[in-house]
Amino acid sequence: MNETKTEIHEKISELKKDRDAIILAHNYQLPEVQEIADITGDSLLLSQKAAQSNADVIVFCGVHFMAETAAILAPKKTVLIPDLNAGCSLSATMAAEDLRKWKASHPGAVVVTYVNCSAEVKAESDYCCTSSNAVKVIGAIPKDKEILFGPDMYLGAWVREKTGRKNMHLWPGSCHVHHMIKTDAIKKLKSDHPQAEFLMHPECGCSSSCLPLADHVLSTQGMINYVKTARANEFIVGTETGNLYPMKKGAPEKEFIPANTEAQCEFMKMITLEKVLWSLEDLKYRVTVPKKIADRARQAIERMIKIT
Ligand code: 13P
Ligand code: SF4
Repeated sequence: MNETKTEIHEKISELKKDRDAIILAHNYQLPEVQEIADITGDSLLLSQKAAQSNADVIVFCGVHFMAETAAILAPKKTVLIPDLNAGCSLSATMAAEDLRKWKASHPGAVVVTYVNCSAEVKAESDYCCTSSNAVKVIGAIPKDKEILFGPDMYLGAWVREKTGRKNMHLWPGSCHVHHMIKTDAIKKLKSDHPQAEFLMHPECGCSSSCLPLADHVLSTQGMINYVKTARANEFIVGTETGNLYPMKKGAPEKEFIPANTEAQCEFMKMITLEKVLWSLEDLKYRVTVPKKIADRARQAIERMIKIT
């Protein structure tokens, strides 16, 4: 870390105390942002930590739907995102109005949405899920109930396969970053590194054809935890490249090969160390959710948290 970054780091640490703030960072964040965070993790872990925190201020280093989830779970706290433009291409594929229409064409169906969606979409849902608990959430719904699952069709297809659930309809949404992870590239990497295990995030666009190549399908935190105790020493990492930093940190003696070096989420990378500092200095940008929407969305999130 150069001196300027060290100075910024120190200022952030001071301001954190003054503001009674906690910094949460997703596993895809820039390494320097992960380093100043109090807690790093996947969507599920971060939403649980936001709900449990006693701090007055939560600085959410991640994308907008994640900060919204924190604001829903901790309505009395000031939730900040250092850059309001940090969106999510997957979340953008489903608007609340789309979901209302879909529901109207399947009366009585149970709606399960991946947390990568807006607060309005969560408010229209019966359950939320994340990549680490989607199988459990679907498993908790009576088998005779029709399910509408969105917005990620690849996560949905994988869960459908894992649970053998036939009556589950999928919304055709996907993430442009995971879409860059392709079957041919995985095959080539596997032949170049025959000892390596392929770890796949369920959002991968190659889901159906690449799934047989996967040694394990895991959330970002699931990958970080798995490699610490795995017998293998080499891993092909099928997710956004930011996840390689915490994986290497947790298992420095092991080798990590990105499935695609270009699989980078520009939204996640909008959060810089400087913006975290400005966020704490000016208490910006505040993320709030109207009470009516937050109350309904919270039910769907809390149902998920109870199951996991
Ligand atoms: P995780 O829940 O595995 O952290 O995934 C979040 C995400 O946005 C993946 O692109
Ligand atoms: Fe959204 Fe994809 Fe970025 Fe995750 S990696 S935040 S799903 S755009």
